[in-house]
Amino acid sequence: MTLRSVVVGYGHYLPEKIVPNSAFEESLDTTDEWIRSRSGIERRHFAAEGQYTSDLAAEAAQATLVNSGLTADDIDAIVVATSTPDLTFPSVATMVQEKIGMTKGFGFDVQAVCAGFVFALTTANGLLLSGQAKRVLVIGAETFSRIMDWTDRGTCVLFGDGAGALILEAQEASGENTDRGILSADLNSDGRYKDMLFVDGGVSTTGHCGKLRMQGNALFRQAVEKLASTASKALETTGLKHEDVDWVVPHQANIRIIQGTAKKLGVPMERVIVTVQDHGNTSAASIPLALSVGAASGKIKQGDLCLTEAIGGGLAWGAVTLRW
Ligand code: UT7
Repeated sequence: MTLRSVVVGYGHYLPEKIVPNSAFEESLDTTDEWIRSRSGIERRHFAAEGQYTSDLAAEAAQATLVNSGLTADDIDAIVVATSTPDLTFPSVATMVQEKIGMTKGFGFDVQAVCAGFVFALTTANGLLLSGQAKRVLVIGAETFSRIMDWTDRGTCVLFGDGAGALILEAQEASGENTDRGILSADLNSDGRYKDMLFVDGGVSTTGHCGKLRMQGNALFRQAVEKLASTASKALETTGLKHEDVDWVVPHQANIRIIQGTAKKLGVPMERVIVTVQDHGNTSAASIPLALSVGAASGKIKQGDLCLTEAIGGGLAWGAVTLRW
């Protein structure tokens, strides 16, 4: 018997406050035109004062429970991908557990920055295939607005806040690549690139959470090559080809990275889910947000082959193939 981790629910939450590019023109030497043409971003959502990552995550979790027709009692584990937790500890996952009224099972966080959701999906898949859990709520949730340096035009115009989630359920399957569920994963990291994207503070160094620092251009050059390579590897493992991919669901950092990667993969942009214009870069939340928006809009349908790929601080990067 083969088990597969199958998506049985999806959902997302975006904070109410929407900030257009033009809002940065007053305080920074930047323009709406520059931000749009260099990144594809038009607007982003920012969490309200007093609204924390666990609040966004819990909203996305509730939406996902409603979508699946399940209750918190049906969930065995919560895995949250985040780099912007409410507190140094406990985990956002345990806070979500409390907020959705889940009194059994377990929860923990995974931190792989913008690649976090791909790592969390793979971790959840391991829990399900090893029998540790029957259903896992996998969430990507971030409040990157809290780690922005508002004087740095090279970063603060790019990021946004939000949360997205999936419920994965262990189901018996044939073992063929026609099965629904997670079909393959490819994970990578290389700490030699740590200075390309990091936060300049932390518990055991400064004692403060710090601000995001990025060598955008250098990272851009790494991104397309590494994303295309990891996505190709993940796809190859399944025995499927680029023409079998119904939807590439990429991390939403920059439209030019998304387009460059799709081109290398041989997948036309009509088969790529793009939300970067509306959400900006929401780090670990961007893929579950894109999956949820894509499914809610009717684009992603049951049985579709989705190829997710992401890269972020570490550097850490990876891809997961998933039949919806
Ligand atoms: O999610 C994790 C992964 N993150 C990424 O993958 C991000 C990767 N990088 C990028 O998306 C792009 O590199 C950026 C959008 C960050 C920047 O685009 P770019 O085309 O690589 O621009 P650049 O960094 O080479 O900067 C070009 C110019 C510079 O001015 P000079 O030195 O040529 O005079 C920057 O100072 O644009 C300037 N610049 C800006 N100008 C207006 C940088 N930020 C801004 C801005 N408004 N907001």
